[in-house]
Amino acid sequence: MTGTPLAVAGLRKGFADRDTVVKAIDDVGFEVREGEIYTLLGPSGCGKTSTLRAVAGLERPDGGRIVIDGNVVTDDGLFVPPNHRDIGMVFQSYGIWPHMTVFDNAAFPLRVSRPKVSKKEIAARVESALAAVHLAGYEGRNSTQLSGGQQQRLALARALVRRPKLLLLDEPLSNLDAKLRQAMRAELATLQQETGITTLFVTHDQDEALSMSSRIAVMQAGRIVQEGRPRDIYQRPGTRFVADFVGTTNFLPGRGAAGRRVTTAVGDLLVEGAPDAAGGDVLLAVRPEALLLHLSEPAGTPNVVRGEVDRVMFVGEAVDCHVRVGDELWVTRQDPRLEAATGDEVWVELPADRISVLA
Ligand SMILES: Nc1ncnc2c1ncn2[C@@H]1O[C@H](COP(=O)(O)OP(=O)(O)OP(=O)(O)O)[C@@H](O)[C@H]1O
Ligand SMILES: [Mg+2]
Repeated sequence: MTGTPLAVAGLRKGFADRDTVVKAIDDVGFEVREGEIYTLLGPSGCGKTSTLRAVAGLERPDGGRIVIDGNVVTDDGLFVPPNHRDIGMVFQSYGIWPHMTVFDNAAFPLRVSRPKVSKKEIAARVESALAAVHLAGYEGRNSTQLSGGQQQRLALARALVRRPKLLLLDEPLSNLDAKLRQAMRAELATLQQETGITTLFVTHDQDEALSMSSRIAVMQAGRIVQEGRPRDIYQRPGTRFVADFVGTTNFLPGRGAAGRRVTTAVGDLLVEGAPDAAGGDVLLAVRPEALLLHLSEPAGTPNVVRGEVDRVMFVGEAVDCHVRVGDELWVTRQDPRLEAATGDEVWVELPADRISVLA
């Protein structure tokens, strides 16, 4: 029987902490589609690893159901052990064995698997897995002679060698230095595409999640609070927590007025997504790059407020201008050609279609 690569429903897990119980997983449900990278994103302690370990069978949940490729692996009174689940895993510490060669590391899962895999078959599969991660030619090397990035790829080859239905990755890039991590993002995403393997990815790094995922589930305190494509999560955050955790955001409280207008401390703003009703409290959110700075007052443009440049930070590909508007300090990201200096009077434009309305 085949089905959705991974379906999780009603998952719960609590850990006793002195007199209380920490709800590490609090009613988590999601489905991962064929061939996608589905990412659990959230701050430290929100339950990402616990969820991944429950899928792997390394953790027994208190309740819930997990189905891998049509096979129920966790349910009331049912628990399939990890080695009988059709998965491959890579953890933060890759778990590469230092006393083994690259070939032996990659071959290990096949050597211990039952039914037995023939020597010839092992050689062929290891060869293709190492080629997939661009480590062909390294077979005889001792694994300690590999760079961080190469060890990471070897861990991946070892997870892929059994050709599992589902790949589980828990912060696989967090051990690498910043530059290599960036390079490996693209490499890992390409590899995933080439192999077409359905992947459940765990990270607390929003850039990593945004750049690599097909879909993201944002977790907070054991729950999934929003699920969607990276651009939807970024451009249409549903709550203050999501807006704040995924990227930088300027918040502006207001009160709904007629005609999709919102009354705020800096004036009345036209907001496309505003409820067309007066009276309700709303929280507006605008990304730094959505705010447009003008050095002279633009004529006839709606949603323009006056401010004063508080700080200018040139970061190469952009210039980050912090602007004081009334009592608020807004973070804006501008084209690096903008020449603004601390103390300059500026006009900040808030395009009506780039303001999010949060619940
Ligand atoms: N074996 C355990 N015993 C007790 N508490 C645990 C155990 N494992 C996890 N927890 C608790 O459950 C919660 C979720 O932990 P989990 O490791 O899933 O978080 P995480 O999202 O992976 O965080 P990080 O980004 O730091 O890895 C935390 O409060 C953690 O302290
Ligand atoms: Mg974790």
